[in-house]
Amino acid sequence: MANWTLIDKHAKAWLQEAGKRIISTFATAPEVMTKSNPDDLVTNIDQETEQFFTKKIRATFSDHHILGEEGFGDDLAGLSGIIWIIDPIDGTTNFVHQQRNFMISIGIYENGNPKLGYVYDVVYQELYHAKAGEGAYWNEKKLPPLDEVPVEKALIGINSTWLISNRLIDPKTSLIPLVNDARGTRSYGSAALEFVFVATGRLDAYITMRLSPWDFAGGKIIVEEVGGKVTNLKGEPLNILGKNPIVVAKPGLHEIIIQKYLSKGM
Ligand code: IPD
Ligand code: CA
Ligand code: CA
Ligand code: CA
Repeated sequence: MANWTLIDKHAKAWLQEAGKRIISTFATAPEVMTKSNPDDLVTNIDQETEQFFTKKIRATFSDHHILGEEGFGDDLAGLSGIIWIIDPIDGTTNFVHQQRNFMISIGIYENGNPKLGYVYDVVYQELYHAKAGEGAYWNEKKLPPLDEVPVEKALIGINSTWLISNRLIDPKTSLIPLVNDARGTRSYGSAALEFVFVATGRLDAYITMRLSPWDFAGGKIIVEEVGGKVTNLKGEPLNILGKNPIVVAKPGLHEIIIQKYLSKGM
């Protein structure tokens, strides 16, 4: 039986240490490289932070598995065992351009079941965390369950990528009506931040085209602990090891977004 209290204690300590290391690099410009295209950035700090976690996890929990964005984890064939899904810097573009609005995100799953979720705002030193079945916290403060909200009063996180034609939905029949009906929209450039903003009620929903496991693994556990819904655009559960388009929202609003708006664009 895994000792989840011990795993949680180490994860929190390592997040703090990793955060301090990142802040200590701020005086020096990071080495910026590109991956799949000129806008897909990665830095030596993303890589060093992921390596920091993989070293600590391997030294302390040698039987745990790791899936990390920058490739220093394991090649996973499936979801069996304990898996740490790590995004060392979520919001790399913000990190490079703004030195803020980026998170460290970690989700820990056992045989595909959510166990521990963390999103750490390094600059604000705010830790959003959850233990499945035991609620979610913003630092020491327990987050209350999410209330329902009508679309007319909803603030929705949405990326400009939806303005460009895509293979998933027709924005003209689905997202433009939603944006018209909602109170407002926001775009923060860090999926993990947008997930925890839904968990804290700072956003009512977040709709995004294509996230990888490390983008949503931590935030999903936190949002679900306060009653938020996390599915694909059809309302189906996410594939934890795959890429997914995602709707995260308060209960009630989630169903309305999928049934009244997104289904019209499919
Ligand atoms: C990205 C951010 C961004 C989202 C992208 C992600 P990264 O993660 O979460 O908000 O729109 O899809 O890839 O690359 O900065 O870790
Ligand atoms: Ca990236
Ligand atoms: Ca990410
Ligand atoms: Ca990243």
